[in-house]
Amino acid sequence: MDKLRIEGGHRLQGTLRPAGAKNAALPIMAAALLTDEELRLDNVPALADTRTMGRLLGGMGVAVARDGQQLGLRAHALASVEAPYELVKTMRASILVLGPLLARAGEARVSLPGGCAIGARPVDQHLKGLQALGAELRIEQGYIVARRAGRRLRGARIVTDLVTVTGTENLMMAATLAEGETVIENAAREPEVVDLAACLNAMGARVRGAGTDRIAVEGVARLHGAAHRIMPDRIESATFLVAVAAAGGDLTLAQAAPQSLDAVLEKLREAGAEVETGADWVRLRMARRPRPVNLRTAPYPAFPTDAQAQFMALDCIADGVASITENIFENRFMHVLELQRLGAQIDIDGHTAIVRGVGRLSGATVMATDLRASASLVLAGLVAQGETVVERIYHLDRGYEAMERRLEALGARIERVRSARP
Ligand code: UD1
Repeated sequence: MDKLRIEGGHRLQGTLRPAGAKNAALPIMAAALLTDEELRLDNVPALADTRTMGRLLGGMGVAVARDGQQLGLRAHALASVEAPYELVKTMRASILVLGPLLARAGEARVSLPGGCAIGARPVDQHLKGLQALGAELRIEQGYIVARRAGRRLRGARIVTDLVTVTGTENLMMAATLAEGETVIENAAREPEVVDLAACLNAMGARVRGAGTDRIAVEGVARLHGAAHRIMPDRIESATFLVAVAAAGGDLTLAQAAPQSLDAVLEKLREAGAEVETGADWVRLRMARRPRPVNLRTAPYPAFPTDAQAQFMALDCIADGVASITENIFENRFMHVLELQRLGAQIDIDGHTAIVRGVGRLSGATVMATDLRASASLVLAGLVAQGETVVERIYHLDRGYEAMERRLEALGARIERVRSARP
């Protein structure tokens, strides 16, 4: 398994263009199942997760053609409607094929994702919503076996019990081909939901209200091919901005989406960074020890859970005490034990971590446990004294495209140590 070796203590400076958003690319790739014509995507990040989604769709008979950041997907005829356990267990977002398969093929067999490192993540809201749209569902040998009752799904009013991002996306996709109108109340407002809606509308769907908590979808008989450019990744953007806020320096993100980063930029300013934005760029300068920032994760537009671990790394070296409350996932503090190995002073009380900033972290070997936890360990390594080795970075590769090369371009001393597979 590959690892990253980092020599801490170097200032970061330069310009980066964020990759396309993983969490927009995954549902949008699944949307290709809704039409027999080609969906042409641009700015698709080259990540383990987008490759997994490509394999999953390929197994269903979708023609997948990749050329750099461009991806062509054509689901001319579906050879299979199954999402096998082997793929779903490596990527929970595989559940995103369920809605499109039901809408287009009228049936689906999707493995239940099971537990994952950041806690129990049920899919009951996806299932409840699809049932309201006329799907018959049962669980059989670890699989969700779904069948459409009529010739088309039928529009319905769905009120989700909680705000779920992929749940909203699954229901929105299923509703595009349903008969009549679907209204999703308590919908997720994440920018990735808005990006998916834009792509669906380019395919001929009638989705209104994406970006608000009430999404209305007027079903149409068929969708057609389209071209769509994936939005910039706001979590990757946040990660690089926090890296520079922690290590000190001057970073410009070009062709970025600052409007999707409000909560993050506000916290970076609180930490003492100078932040300027334009229509599609962000510049961050940091010339001091960070001030502690308190944060509470919540659905968009509040502070994103996917940036919580990275900000914790920043608080670890801040000039004071910070409190971080995780409200979205249980068990999303697994980076804490590893950060402690680097000398961080963190106490956990339920869903809240109290972080006492220390003057310096000191390098050690640490182990990545999930995607964003890995990113926080890399950031901690960038500011720790001496050498830090981050093991098990396959988690990192699920969501960051060549992170080490991009940090190196900013002046970080970081290298990937490849190891032969057993
Ligand atoms: C998506 C993102 C992930 C991000 C998360 C929260 C993708 C591919 N992944 O994950 O990076 O961390 O949003 O912003 O976009 N829940 C239920 N029942 C359900 C669905 C969700 O109880 O049917 C719970 C979950 O356990 C969790 C909370 O709702 O506690 C939010 O989860 P959700 O928004 O669904 O996360 P994902 O869509 O899986």
